[in-house]
Order: sequence, then structure tokens, then C-alpha cells
Amino acid sequence: MAWTKERLEEVAQTRLGGAKLIVVANREPYIHRYRDGEIEWIRPAGGLTTALDPVMRACGGVWVAHGSGDADAEVCDKNGRVGVPPDDPSYALRRVWLSKNDEEGYYYGFSNSTLWPLCHQVYCRPTFDPANWEAYRKVNETFAAAVLEEAQGGPALVFVQDYHFALLPKLLKAARPDLVVAQFWHIPWPNPETFLVCPWAKELLDGMLGNDLLGFHTQYHCNNFLDTVDRTLECRVDREKFAVARGGLETSVRPFPISVDPDLPKQYLGDNWEKRARALRKKHRLADRPLLVGVDRVDYTKGIPERLRALDRLLVQHPEMKEKFHFLQVGAPSRTHLETYRDLTEEVQTLADQINWTHKTDHWQPVVFLNEHQGPEDVTLLYRMAAGCVVSSLHDGMNLVAKEFVAARDDERGVLVLSKFTGAAKELTDAVLVNPFDVDEMAAGLYSALTMAADEQERRMRRMRAKVQDNNIYRWAGMLLSEVGKLVPETAAKPMPVPAPPANPAIDQVEVRIARENFITAMRLAGC
Ligand code: F6P
Repeated sequence: MAWTKERLEEVAQTRLGGAKLIVVANREPYIHRYRDGEIEWIRPAGGLTTALDPVMRACGGVWVAHGSGDADAEVCDKNGRVGVPPDDPSYALRRVWLSKNDEEGYYYGFSNSTLWPLCHQVYCRPTFDPANWEAYRKVNETFAAAVLEEAQGGPALVFVQDYHFALLPKLLKAARPDLVVAQFWHIPWPNPETFLVCPWAKELLDGMLGNDLLGFHTQYHCNNFLDTVDRTLECRVDREKFAVARGGLETSVRPFPISVDPDLPKQYLGDNWEKRARALRKKHRLADRPLLVGVDRVDYTKGIPERLRALDRLLVQHPEMKEKFHFLQVGAPSRTHLETYRDLTEEVQTLADQINWTHKTDHWQPVVFLNEHQGPEDVTLLYRMAAGCVVSSLHDGMNLVAKEFVAARDDERGVLVLSKFTGAAKELTDAVLVNPFDVDEMAAGLYSALTMAADEQERRMRRMRAKVQDNNIYRWAGMLLSEVGKLVPETAAKPMPVPAPPANPAIDQVEVRIARENFITAMRLAGC
């Protein structure tokens, strides 16, 4: 039976009963910001929010996140809550406010200068700064307080996201042993030799073992985690059950490959996408030439310089390809307060300029680099227009751009050039798989994308689309909820009473509707 939004809704309600779903992620799904004196909202770049927003729309509940937009506070009630999506609220967003120092130490520091390079094996040296560690601990405590407040003493499933919150599960369990806590680690987990150089490895592992369920994208990352724990802590690692027992708690460790909602591209494209495509071609002087596209945050794990060098190689090896195509790279600015990220942006810009200078002709230049945030409507348009999409991550837990591209191609055309070092490569084996460190192999991959026969494209795309259709985001969430739902105490399975309307009208509607739906479904399931 296929996984759909409706099936997930049903699973959420049967498995959770009256337990409240509280998602915790550093990144918020909607950011409010000022533009020309007006407040607007945007969806941030990045796989996590793209994947989880449809799940929250289906299940309802609260998403607890750092309020990072300059107009975020403006639209919230006094508790930092606002209904989202802003144009049609179906769940609540609880924003947590962080000081500049906390953000510096916890987000830019320990999360993205220590754990991010430590877990991605891309030869970027992690920093180990005790002050950042302190900020990380403090912010995990701040989030724990917010989650406990949201749980309101009642039954709840807390679904923690990512490496920003390794300490949070244990903090929650210590305060409320009855809470069911699950965590999904969206990035790779390295082998023990790599992870154990971290001076706070024990504390991180101890925090994560506060989870009832811990998910990674692949079995390989689960195995690495179990090996790391086994080498570090006094505990019992059960390799048959894939679980760790410690201090009376058991943590199940399982793979759950994340995905996308395959029906969203249709909505994002709308009816007039061809008109928008023509305008875009005109704006960037692309004529009607085939397009290769790359869509990434500007991050050193994504292999953007590597793909540009491969493009240069392709044009040297195949000068006949000049004027035959364009390469359009969207590079969403990311973590720009960190020097490594600023340097990378400069490197990409310089490389793009150099390649254009070397290979340009009177009426053509190969590379268009758009160093800007683009919403899902524009990104999906690019996927649909492209002859090929290039995903050349040096290391990536999953990479949802690959799956988004496939989901957008209802014409069954287009070639995906995909790094072997992504989680997505394990599923999308009909992509042109490449080693992004090998410039010749990458150049050959780009050449294939530009020259592959239509019937071969169709054959590959059809198979990839079937996989994304089946292993969609609703399946990911459904499997996770089914697993973790086994742990929700019986008492929580009672229908939730419909609450009295709270003060904020935007939240009112969301909570009352969700409670009412829970109640109706529970009655239906009880045969009433
Ligand atoms: O997948 C790792 C991750 O941190 C996700 O949380 C997010 O989708 C993406 O990278 C973007 O990162 P940030 O939230 O730091 O912009």
C-alpha cells in the first residue's frame, strides 16, 4: 500500500493517540523578514525543512526552532508562537530566541565548526573550542525548557532533529522520563576513529542515548554509531536488535532514508511554468540551449568547485561542446559568518569567472552563478527545464536535491549526475554515478548528461521516479512514527479533549482543529 499524506495522518493519529507531536529543529520551516520595510516570509534552503514541513502539515503539532528572521518576533504571540504555513496555518511554530553570543558559540561554533566537519569526511579540520561547547550545552538546555513548556505536562512524542541537539534527548528524559523521545541525525555518522577525537565525545553519546529511537539515513551510519558507542561507554550493544542498553534505558538505532513529497513539484510549477521558463532564459541569456543545473547551499561538503573544474575539463576535452549548453548554479548563501563559507563563495565566484573567461565566445559563456536564495517554485522550474542536474557532494547523508529533481521530471526526461558519496546514490542507482574527487570521471558524467539518448534517459528516469514515488517522505515519517509509536504509553492513546481557545487567534484555529481531528479519528477507530 502506497504511503500518502492521508495514510500518514491516520498512522500519526492511531500511533500517537492523544500524545502531542513536538518536533525540535534548529532551523525553522518559515522565516519572517523585513524587505523594503515590509514583512515577508520565506522557506529556508536545506533538506530538513523541505522534508519535515509536509509531515507536520499532515500530523499537526508544534515545531520548536530558533527564531532567526529579523521580523520573526513581530508576528509571534508573547510565547513566541505563530501558526504556519503563514498563508494557511496547519501547525504551530514555537520560536526560541537566542542571544548573538549563544548563536555564535552553539550554531556557528560547535554545530557547524565542530560537528559538521567532524561528521562529513571532506578534509575540513573541525575546531574544538571549550567556549563553543559551553554555548552548545547552554542552548540545548534552553531548547529543553521550551520543549517541556510545550509538552505542558501531558503525553508527548518529541522528535528531535539533527546534530544541533545531541544533548537534548537526555535532558528531556531526565526531566520527564515518560516522554517518548526520538532523534533523526540528518548528516553522516563517521567511524569511531574519526568521531572519538572530539574531546566531548562521551557527553555527546551520553546525550543521544537519552533517545528511545535514533535514526540515520543508512545502515552504515547506524553501524558506525554502534561501534562508536561500543568503544566509548559502559553499555550493552545488542547487534541483533540494533539497540544500546544503558542505565535502564534502551535506544533502538535504525536506518530511515529521508525523502521528498513527490506531488509537490506539480504544485510549485503551476500551469504557466513554460512562460516562466522563457522569461528565465531571456533574463540569463540562455537562448534555447540545454541546461545543466546545480542547486545547493554554498557549503564545502557539496563539491561545487569540483563540479566547476569538471566543467572546465569537459570544455577542454570537447571543444565542440562550446555554445552547446549552459551550466547554471544556484548557490544559496549559507553560514556566511564563518570564514570557510565566505572563502568558498569567493572561490566559486572566481572559478566561474575564470571558466567563463577561458571558454567564452562572442555570444556565449558557459557558467551562470546565482549566489542567492531561491524559493521552491523557482528551483522546481529549473529542475523541470534542465537537461541534467549535477549533485557532486563530497559526502552527504542523503541529498534531497537529487530526489527533488527526479520528482520534478514528470516528462521522464533529464539526467541526474550524482556523487557516489551521497545517501541518495544507494537508492538512485540509475543516475550517472560519479566520484566528485575524480575530475575526469566527473567531466565524463557531465558529457553523458548532455549527450544521452532520449530513450535511455526515459528508461533511467522512469525507474528513479518509481523509487521516489514509493520511498517518499510520508513513508519515512510513517515508518519512524510506527516504530516510535510502539513506545507511546497506553494512557496517551486516549483522545485529547478539545482545548478552550487560547489567546492567539492564529494558533487557536490550528490547535482546535488538530485536537478536533484527533478526537474524531479516535472515535472512528473506536467504532463510534
Ligand atoms: O542536513 C543538515 C542540515 O543542517 C539540515 O539541518 C539543514 O537542512 C541543512 O543542513 C541546512 O543547514 P542550516 O540550517 O545550517 O542552514
